Amino acid sequence: MSKNDFILKAESIYKSYRMGATAVEVLKGVDFGVEKGEFVAIVGTSGSGKSTLLHILGALDRPDKGVVAFAGRDLSRYSSGELNRFRNKTVGFVFQFYHLLDELNVLENVFLPTMVSKGIFGWFACRGWAKNRARELLGQLGLGERANHKPYQLSGGERQRVAIGRALMNEPSVLLADEPTGNLDSATGNGILKVFEELNRAGQTIVMVSHDERVAQRAGRIVTLADGKIRRA
Ligand SMILES: Nc1ncnc2c1ncn2[C@@H]1O[C@H](COP(=O)(O)OP(=O)(O)OP(=O)(O)O)[C@@H](O)[C@H]1O
Ligand SMILES: [Mg+2]
Repeated sequence: MSKNDFILKAESIYKSYRMGATAVEVLKGVDFGVEKGEFVAIVGTSGSGKSTLLHILGALDRPDKGVVAFAGRDLSRYSSGELNRFRNKTVGFVFQFYHLLDELNVLENVFLPTMVSKGIFGWFACRGWAKNRARELLGQLGLGERANHKPYQLSGGERQRVAIGRALMNEPSVLLADEPTGNLDSATGNGILKVFEELNRAGQTIVMVSHDERVAQRAGRIVTLADGKIRRA
């Protein structure tokens, strides 16, 4: 398979954090790519730079050096409007601690990304559609009865499913998940992994970060981040 088949690709990525006088080199020439329709897990010990890499892939952070490209186009050439759209529409994020808004109910948390991407006038035009899509997603995620609950009224597994619904709301090309089961017991985490497997079977491209090899086994391909690089298999 040629390298051009990667939908999202990172090449020679370097990233360090400056802590006072010293710089901590976290990524030292990472090459990574995900093909359309793939489910890839990135594993590595705590502190190996998995979250750093995922944030760079999703344009939440910038590399010091190296190129991230989506569909062959270098993200560093995107305008700020294009970057906002990339973060809001092209990728969808799922985090270990859910990051739901407690003031909003479950349905509102799920359709929030569409509200953000459409702006006030666009939102008025599409809100009926958006609410229906959010309800449909909640139904698929087994949360049809929870639409009017607040996040703090839900269990951890339910909260994570809401966060997955939110990440899927704008039909992202790539779902990026950072330790999505890290805060859950193994049975509940297993439910979340089943959701990912089903999404992937339906064609969703997924990049999932985990320090847990057993969790990573559920992906179609595993790569290991060690010493600032993707280790060669
Ligand atoms: N904003 C920051 N400022 C300074 N150092 C940072 C910052 N973010 C991350 N680091 C450092 O970079 C290294 C990699 O962090 P990162 O969060 O990417 O690791 P990780 O593999 O996701 O770890 P974990 O499995 O514990 O989540 C760590 O040593 C961390 O202390
Ligand atoms: Mg991390």
